[in-house]
Amino acid sequence: MASSYQELEEFVREEMRKIYTEATIDHAMNPRNMGGMENADGFGKVTGPCGDTMEIWLKIKNNTVVEATFLTDGCETSIAAGSMVTELAKGKSISEALKITHQDVLDAFGSLPEESIHCAFLAANTLREAIKDYFTFKNEPWKRAYRQH
Ligand code: FES
Repeated sequence: MASSYQELEEFVREEMRKIYTEATIDHAMNPRNMGGMENADGFGKVTGPCGDTMEIWLKIKNNTVVEATFLTDGCETSIAAGSMVTELAKGKSISEALKITHQDVLDAFGSLPEESIHCAFLAANTLREAIKDYFTFKNEPWKRAYRQH
C-alpha cells in the first residue's frame, strides 16, 4: 500500500509533468552534486536577475573537472539546473567546460518553460565564474589567501 508521502510525491510529480520534462523533474527532485566543497580549485557565486544565488565549487586535476558541486537558494528549476550543469562539467577538460552554455543545460533537459530559462543562465554563468576563479588562482596562487569563502 502506498504511503501518504509516496502519494504526495506522485501528486507533485504529476503536477510538474504539466510544465517540465521528466529529466528536469528528476534533477529537481534528486539533485546531483549538491553541497559545498573543501579546498576547491575554483569557486563561483552569481546572483541572477530574479534575486536567487547559485554557488559552484570545482576540483580540477590535469586540466579536467574531476568534481563539481553546487548550492542555490533558488527555485526548483535552479536546483535542477545546478545539478545538470555540474553533471555536464564533470569529466570535461577545463576548455570544454568553459564552453558549456545555458543552451547545453536546456538541451540536456529537453526544454524549460520560457519563464524558467533564466535559471539555466544562472547555472551556466556560475560555472563560468568558477572556471574564471580557477584560472585566477592558477596564475596568481597568492590570492587564494584572500578568498572570502
Ligand atoms: Fe530564480 Fe529560478 S527563479 S533561479
